[in-house]
Amino acid sequence: MPVAAPVLRPAQTGGGSSVPVHVAIIMDGNGRWAAARGLPRVAGHRAGAEAVTRTLRAAARRGVGYLTLYAFSSENWRRTPEEVTDLTSLLRYYLRHKVAELHRENVRIRFIGDLERFGRDLVDELRRAEHLTAANTGLTLQLALSYGGRGELALAARRLAEAVARGDLCADQIDEEALSGCLLTAGVPDPDVIVRTSGEHRLSNFLLWQGAYAELVFTDVLWPDFDEAQFEVVLRIYAGRERRFGARPGG
Ligand code: IPE
Ligand code: IPE
Ligand code: MG
Repeated sequence: MPVAAPVLRPAQTGGGSSVPVHVAIIMDGNGRWAAARGLPRVAGHRAGAEAVTRTLRAAARRGVGYLTLYAFSSENWRRTPEEVTDLTSLLRYYLRHKVAELHRENVRIRFIGDLERFGRDLVDELRRAEHLTAANTGLTLQLALSYGGRGELALAARRLAEAVARGDLCADQIDEEALSGCLLTAGVPDPDVIVRTSGEHRLSNFLLWQGAYAELVFTDVLWPDFDEAQFEVVLRIYAGRERRFGARPGG
């Protein structure tokens, strides 16, 4: 079965040059990429990890400040135990083999999600990677693991309720800024663009609050085939969009 050809057409692209500060990507299509080659799903996830490295380089080279990658959703725990084990093993491998290199490249690493579900050992490794790279000043890589936007919003509500119960906050002080500050992404600007690969047109519980005004870019390219050229296409599409934020056109 042939692999889907890129469908991002030049007609959709604009001539502007503004580079987004924050690019977020729903990395989808690993399983279909593997199936198209008669390979097990894990082969697709491995190839997807290589696409992460390529995309990270491309983003850093173009001066993108923040790259958020959706690697495992809170709903992905519904996959078979074998696939969950394959994905966590791959994550562990990636951490062990790539973190030092990312650190040398001045990348700051953050993880968002219900990380505790991965178990103490892995959480310790994630925290070590965050700690090691915390003072880096290059691109911030935010990896979403066991992440779900609704769960994150419920967590923020709990945090606010606790602050009110302690007497640190009045209920009428709860505004958009207060809620944003209680999210896992606190301190990180909202994504300018959310990309989803593999031809699916949904958010699947990704950055529900933060993505309120993100430009959405969908491509049929399967995640393991995503590369620098695809990243450039995304940047061109973004540069060609007019962002209004509710104001009148051109206003
Ligand atoms: C994305 O690829 C990776 C994860 C969600 C972990 P999929 O595994 O969802 O691949 P498809 O959608 O089955 O092709
Ligand atoms: C979304 O992809 C989550 C990630 C890419 C990590 P899924 O493949 O899990 O999403 P659905 O199930 O098709 O919505
Ligand atoms: Mg999928």
